[in-house]
Amino acid sequence: MWYSGQVAEREGLTTRLAHSLASVIRGKPRALELLIIGALAEGHVLIEDVPGVGKTTLAKAFARSLELSFSRIQFTPDLLPTDIIGSQTLGTDGQLHFQKGPVFTQVLLADEINRASPRTQSALLEAMSERQVTVDGHTYTFPGPFIVLATQNPLDFQGTYPLPEAQLDRFTLRLAMGYPSEEDELEMLVREGGGFPLGEVKPVASEAEFAEVRQQVRQVRVEPRVLLYLRRLVAQTRNNDNVALGVSPRGAITLYRACQARAFVHSRDFVTPDDIQDLAYAVLGHRLMLTERARYGGISTDTVITTLLKEVPVPR
Ligand SMILES: Nc1ncnc2c1ncn2[C@@H]1O[C@H](COP(=O)(O)OP(=O)(O)O)[C@@H](O)[C@H]1O
Ligand SMILES: [Mg+2]
Repeated sequence: MWYSGQVAEREGLTTRLAHSLASVIRGKPRALELLIIGALAEGHVLIEDVPGVGKTTLAKAFARSLELSFSRIQFTPDLLPTDIIGSQTLGTDGQLHFQKGPVFTQVLLADEINRASPRTQSALLEAMSERQVTVDGHTYTFPGPFIVLATQNPLDFQGTYPLPEAQLDRFTLRLAMGYPSEEDELEMLVREGGGFPLGEVKPVASEAEFAEVRQQVRQVRVEPRVLLYLRRLVAQTRNNDNVALGVSPRGAITLYRACQARAFVHSRDFVTPDDIQDLAYAVLGHRLMLTERARYGGISTDTVITTLLKEVPVPR
């Protein structure tokens, strides 16, 4: 594990944040690491998993740990774009006023995003990529951090509208929580009241420190040979018989930013081929559209990525 033992006040922000999240979410270091990487890369994170595995708890713990404002939207089939963005309402002065919707926050938990209609999904996804919303010709921008943690049920659940590829591309990475181990689940059960109280989560950093760290992440170096490796890996996704649509240039930029964040989390100021290999599944997986033949043949995006990693020579 990249964080362990006692945490000292003078530890870096990412270590303090990981400890804070781990005090609430047991036994999920990988999910915590990926969430932190997505946030440091100034991205949004898609959590794909079944109900009851700690997704909401993780999102709340994250917002509290960084003292960011938090709101949650439960997506349902009848949710409208205005339920997310807000709408014009008539004030007592007879004037129209814009009533801001729940999207005006710093950490937004978009729960079960694939249960809303595509039109409502796209209202959120627009806000995510532009970091602003436009209503009746007025543009409202989001000051400071804006991180969407969206959850979706596994795609074979009933009554869901799968997110289109172009919208999935808005998420820096996709992660799964997974069920707890026997040890962790037993520990959870024996605690009176169950679970690990969110109420005890204290802020570990100010918004200013978080902004400063994100700035440092942008300074992490990527040597030419490592950059070429990243580009070749991305290009290879466009050149595979099982893939109908490969990774876009936007996906390449996102992988680059995520690798800078992973390097930073591991206390390096340069990206290594390891960072790229480690993040290939989480960053590229949801960006690959497989051919129908591959899907029916039981080939997964993970299988394809494993092949790509073997095909592209690793720089020494
Ligand atoms: N790995 C875990 N560690 C600690 N608590 C967990 C874990 N997985 C689930 N829980 C607990 O299960 C309950 C349901 O979690 P919740 O965050 O509401 O799930 P979800 O949003 O995925 O449906 C909470 O009390 C939460 O603390
Ligand atoms: Mg939940």
